[in-house]
Amino acid sequence: MARILVTGGTGYIGSHTVVCLMEQGYDVTIVDNLSNSNREVLDGITSITGHRPDFVEADCQDRTAMEQVFTTYPDIQAVIHFAASKAVGESVEKPLLYYRNNVLSLLTVLETMQRHGVNNIVFSSSCTVYGQPDEAHLPVDETAPRQQALSPYGNTKQINEDILTDAAHADKALRVILLRYFNPIGAHPSAKIGELPNGVPNNLLPFVTQTAAGLRPMLRVFGDDYNTPDGSCIRDYIYVMDLAKAHVKAVDRLLAATASEQVEVFNLGTGRGLSVLEIVRTFIEVTGQNVPYEIVGRREGDIEQVWANPAKANRVLGWKADTPVADVLLSAWNWEKHIRGI
Ligand code: NAD
Ligand code: WQD
Repeated sequence: MARILVTGGTGYIGSHTVVCLMEQGYDVTIVDNLSNSNREVLDGITSITGHRPDFVEADCQDRTAMEQVFTTYPDIQAVIHFAASKAVGESVEKPLLYYRNNVLSLLTVLETMQRHGVNNIVFSSSCTVYGQPDEAHLPVDETAPRQQALSPYGNTKQINEDILTDAAHADKALRVILLRYFNPIGAHPSAKIGELPNGVPNNLLPFVTQTAAGLRPMLRVFGDDYNTPDGSCIRDYIYVMDLAKAHVKAVDRLLAATASEQVEVFNLGTGRGLSVLEIVRTFIEVTGQNVPYEIVGRREGDIEQVWANPAKANRVLGWKADTPVADVLLSAWNWEKHIRGI
């Protein structure tokens, strides 16, 4: 079976994807510098799959290290490039760090692939490239225009999409799949791997689970005066395992070389928008936990509502995100309990 290089493979989405790849029989090599994850994730993956993925601790910006990886594993046939810094707020404070890490990592991976004749890459992009779509473009499909990024982080996703598109234009052998994720949540049903937020979580679900676990006194709901049915923001929350499975489909497609276009873009979402208050209330209902919350003012830079039209991914990849949100929220809570020893 083919070997897949997974950069950022001990991270949140990467680790779930590694599990799915291994369960489909792929050999996996992970490269991660452990800047936002740890080695214990490898134990979780091993415990779930029964096999330990090959792991190289290295920085994707390090040309020598990446050269060594491709030399050690001449059977790599595709790369899934997750490795990036991803905190939106931090990217505003430290833009150069974000541009350096996210752009140079991709450039280094791509150049090394080219030297070793590896022509297939899946890239982790984000719905952030759409900004706030106008009403005519909701739910948002892949033809909706990208909008000026609201943060350096968002801008690195646009720049990296452009780098990959230009590289494919110049190199007719290169095959690229850009996956635009909506809001990934939840954890593997075994609760052996999951999301490990650093410090105070910015994202909704980790904040909800940490509040339920008593680590935070109160969840703040940012705004109930938006133009939405209950006034809180709407997002497309997608189960991380469903998201992971889409990566396997993308790799299958690249290796089968069936695509007529060199660069393909897919929205990965459920097609259903849920409000912040719907998420919080459903979480309370399915877990039976108390989550104290208060409504506060809007968070700067928040988009009012965005959710995906995933029809293209459903049709072309033969993939659908169909895990019920109740199960997803329960998996997030089980993971929180696991890491807190509750
Ligand atoms: P994560 O931080 O959990 O995983 C990223 C991994 O990459 C971490 O393990 C980190 O240690 C590693 N890494 C970072 N820079 C590296 C480098 N230079 N060299 C090697 N390893 C490096 O994040 P995640 O949520 O799993 O996100 C994965 C990808 O998906 C990222 O590209 C992110 O921007 C993108 N994405 C995430 C979301 C989300 O909400 N989680 C949404 C859209 C897109
Ligand atoms: C979701 C909703 C908040 C925390 C971010 C990035 C995006 C993508 C995913 C990578 C919003 C509300 C949140 C809280 C709240 N990442 N909220 N109280 O903002 O949709 O997207 O993560 O590409 O680029 O911008 O996700 O989880 O931060 O927020 O009320 O304590 O929950 O206002 O409406 P977001 P989020």
